[in-house]
Amino acid sequence: MSGRILLTGGAGYIGSHTAIALIEAGYDVVILDDFSNARPDVPDRLEMITGRSVPCHRCDIRDAAGVAAIFARHRFDAVVHFAAKKAVGESMERPLDYINVNCGGLLTLLGAMQRAGVFRLVFSSSATVYGLPKVLPVPEDAPLVAESTYAWTKLASEQILAQAAAADPRWAFGILRYFNPAGAHGSGLIGEDPRDIPNNLMPYLARVATGELARLEVFGDDYNTPDGTGVRDYIHVEDLAAGHRLSLDDLIATDRGHLFNLGTGKGTSVLEMLRAYSRACGRDLPYVIGPRRAGDVDIYYADPAKAERELGFRATRTPEEMCASSWAFILRRRNGS
Ligand code: NAD
Ligand code: WQD
Repeated sequence: MSGRILLTGGAGYIGSHTAIALIEAGYDVVILDDFSNARPDVPDRLEMITGRSVPCHRCDIRDAAGVAAIFARHRFDAVVHFAAKKAVGESMERPLDYINVNCGGLLTLLGAMQRAGVFRLVFSSSATVYGLPKVLPVPEDAPLVAESTYAWTKLASEQILAQAAAADPRWAFGILRYFNPAGAHGSGLIGEDPRDIPNNLMPYLARVATGELARLEVFGDDYNTPDGTGVRDYIHVEDLAAGHRLSLDDLIATDRGHLFNLGTGKGTSVLEMLRAYSRACGRDLPYVIGPRRAGDVDIYYADPAKAERELGFRATRTPEEMCASSWAFILRRRNGS
């Protein structure tokens, strides 16, 4: 496939991996990012991996004039919109900031796209829109409920897209609901390494593996799961990136919108992930069992059948590969390379 694609938030974790997948598939990629949650060396690393220089514009997605200037500079065939704030706990403390960036940013982007005559958009949604799922595996038509302000912004964004598409048939939206992204690029040059103490399991395990954090606190071992710890559908970020390429290929070929879960369809418990990371880093990682974390679900995993049937998408990489690639990236990062 060919075409020029704008990746908002393209210097972030999922966006940077998607940039590589798109370049390798033959697309030209341009990044818009305010670097509020990305390292400044990501564009250079993308060039090291792909051999291609990636134009990168530092811009806030809510800055209408800045976004319009980027659309004036490049002729885009489609946009992938990653730029958003994503910490569930923080979203409950600062709801207006989350609504402002996640929903306000989407509206600014849609306005710029409309004025530039670009009507294809892939949107980063999340399995969080299913709330506490009642059916397993979770299909796309499961009931939707926002249990946090973050989830609310994703639900509201999906509804904004539905309203726009209903009013103007030129819009083609690819809504992708990710389950739990994990792992890093095979080069070891890009991955997930948050600046603050991580809230999420994988980056937390990485910090325990380096010794920066003493032990993992397992949030509850009395869930209704095989080993009592929470079960999630972890999807390797390179598989997730491939899903974006398929979504874009389809939008460009058909100009028809779609909505898919991106997951593996398999659940992995916290203790299973801890053991996989221990094998990856070569030592038994310490842990303690703590109380449940408020708002956590016992178990959920995707029904990925629709994405496989209609998009040809299959996530095949294992938790072992997620932990090994994460550890390779963290080691390189700590060694300064
Ligand atoms: P990330 O924070 O690594 O990437 C987001 C990028 O957007 C960052 O580079 C950040 O600097 C940029 N950004 C943030 N606010 C911006 C603004 N106002 N203007 C311009 N750029 C801005 O996060 P990620 O994990 O790569 O997530 C990407 C998308 O996927 C987000 O929309 C997120 O909600 C969604 N998502 C993430 C997960 C997950 O667990 N990582 C799961 C489901 C959905
Ligand atoms: C996974 C499991 C925890 C940390 C979140 C968002 C969701 C989506 C993905 C964006 C759970 C357990 C964790 C720790 C632990 N993001 N855990 N000790 O909560 O499934 O999903 O990220 O859209 O919206 O809610 O991911 O990585 O935080 O937790 O025991 O220190 O690990 O209880 O069972 P979660 P997570």
